[in-house]
Amino acid sequence: MCGIVGYVGNKNAQNFLISGLKRLEYRGYDSAGIVTLSADGEPTLLRAKGKIANLEEKLAKNKRDDKIGIGHTRWATHGEPSETNAHPHQAGNIYVVHNGIIENYKELKAALKEHEFKSETDTEVLAALIESFYKDGKYPLSNAVVQALKLVKGTFGIAVVSTKTPDEIVVARSGSPLVIGVGHDETLIASDASALVGHTKQAIYLNDGEVAHVTKNSVEIKTLNAEPVSAKVEEIETNLAAIQKGGYDHFLLKEIMEQPESLKETLRGRVNLAAGTVHLGGPGLSVAELRQIKHLVIVGCGTAYHAGLLAGYYIEQFTPEITVETVIASEYRYRNAYIPKDSVALIVSQSGETADTLACLREIKKQGIKTIGIVNAIGSTIAREVDGGTYVHVGPEISVASTKAFTSQVVAMVMFGLTIAQAKGVKPGTLRPYVEEIAKLPEEIHSVLDTVVEDVKKIAEAHKDYDHAIYLGRDTAYPTAMEGALKLKEISYVDANAYAFGELKHGPLALIDDRFFEMALLPEGDLYDKAVSNVQEVLARGGHIIAVTNVENFDLPVESVVKITTSLEIFTPILMNLVSQLFAYYMTIAKGYNVDQPRNLAKSVTVE
Ligand code: F6R
Repeated sequence: MCGIVGYVGNKNAQNFLISGLKRLEYRGYDSAGIVTLSADGEPTLLRAKGKIANLEEKLAKNKRDDKIGIGHTRWATHGEPSETNAHPHQAGNIYVVHNGIIENYKELKAALKEHEFKSETDTEVLAALIESFYKDGKYPLSNAVVQALKLVKGTFGIAVVSTKTPDEIVVARSGSPLVIGVGHDETLIASDASALVGHTKQAIYLNDGEVAHVTKNSVEIKTLNAEPVSAKVEEIETNLAAIQKGGYDHFLLKEIMEQPESLKETLRGRVNLAAGTVHLGGPGLSVAELRQIKHLVIVGCGTAYHAGLLAGYYIEQFTPEITVETVIASEYRYRNAYIPKDSVALIVSQSGETADTLACLREIKKQGIKTIGIVNAIGSTIAREVDGGTYVHVGPEISVASTKAFTSQVVAMVMFGLTIAQAKGVKPGTLRPYVEEIAKLPEEIHSVLDTVVEDVKKIAEAHKDYDHAIYLGRDTAYPTAMEGALKLKEISYVDANAYAFGELKHGPLALIDDRFFEMALLPEGDLYDKAVSNVQEVLARGGHIIAVTNVENFDLPVESVVKITTSLEIFTPILMNLVSQLFAYYMTIAKGYNVDQPRNLAKSVTVE
């Protein structure tokens, strides 16, 4: 969603702000802006609707060598995307950029009679509120920010500057991430560490309820209650290569193609092939605690939810006496669900910042249930608030559509399930095939990506005029079909939905006509024959089927087939999902849409 950057130091602030905002583009936005201050406090405010390129056009005519500034990419919540609604927002001497939502902005606004509001945003209300404490020298900047934030209900990550003191930035967070980069004679601010890569490796991640007063040589952190906080400086692990396209046309294709390597990172040091076991250090549960687990709640949104569904099917296969319930975070947080005491909750999130998933984590913790994070972003809020966790270590995922994270989330959760099964004394013979296939997966992914790409591209191009699609699967191929449909709809805007094959006759079969094509996931296995009968039913009604299968002598009269050659039996659906990922990618290219930044979507959904 929205992105924040800030700079105070000896270098040109406009340069850092623009390059930092470009790094955050992937998060999704619809307007952008920066303000910089000269040494005597003269502000240069530049804002533009649409892409950062529009902002750069304005910048070309307004170059300044200012050494301090803040910037923002806005994803509209209150008020349409427009220059007036773009951040930074001004009130008197104060400029503010803000991520999050001020829920009580209407009440606050009604009381701020002296300020003439120009935008429809909640952020301008915050700027005016800070100014009401700041003007006439009532409070120094950081105290004025604290006074204002004490009255605010909602979520925020903010950066504030004043034209009266052009050598300081005040930042604060509650529910919206902020990182402070500590450089040599410079301090950098960002809502996501990727904007800091290449500038500094030293970062301080602000916690909820903290306010930092930042100059080029100092960072002073306090809580909103004025208690001093000793800053923990951490190393930023991401390197430049990880956030560049690396020769690919799009981040999405890069991220699909790098899955053999990203999955290897997930597995590193965690699989003992000789013993047929897995070892996860992060969850921090004793063997006795693992043995007691009877119930797993898996919480996530979108792709993370699908990963949880698929992992749940696997975990139930090899773990005795366990039930797995995978839930959508935005629903679960408002359900009055009782969680049995012998449960553990897996909190799944690539970004580690998804508002609904975070809210569930906090609710579940209140019930005294142990929470384990399946998270990618190191140091993210979810990663810091869970009781234990397993990082998936896939590196930055820049494209809005999640691909490599899905694969590794599934495998990390299955490994957690195997850890439980090992503790419960499940026979090694039952678990070994899972461990062996997990160890083989990176190579298998590599070979499937290598062999299917041309076929998938052709088939996708041939289907580019379709606007409707149905994805079908049974058992583990069903959540895989759900993920495939999500990928297609979010980037190619095809109305794609997934159904369990067995559900067809209960309604969706009525849809089959020339407007739709059907993507049928048909892995070899016990339920293959049943799925074939369902395919026949679709064919009999004139369906346009693309079959994805690893069955060698597949001979159904479907329109297109993507053949997968694999020695895997258990994790074939993960390979089939690669086909869905590639299909969505090439379909989107063929339709001529923006692959990495689909309309209306943001990478990290930090508001409800
Ligand atoms: C789909 C997609 C989203 C995310 C969802 C959860 O491609 O990217 O559905 O999976 O917003 O995000 P995280 O995993 O960051 O919590």
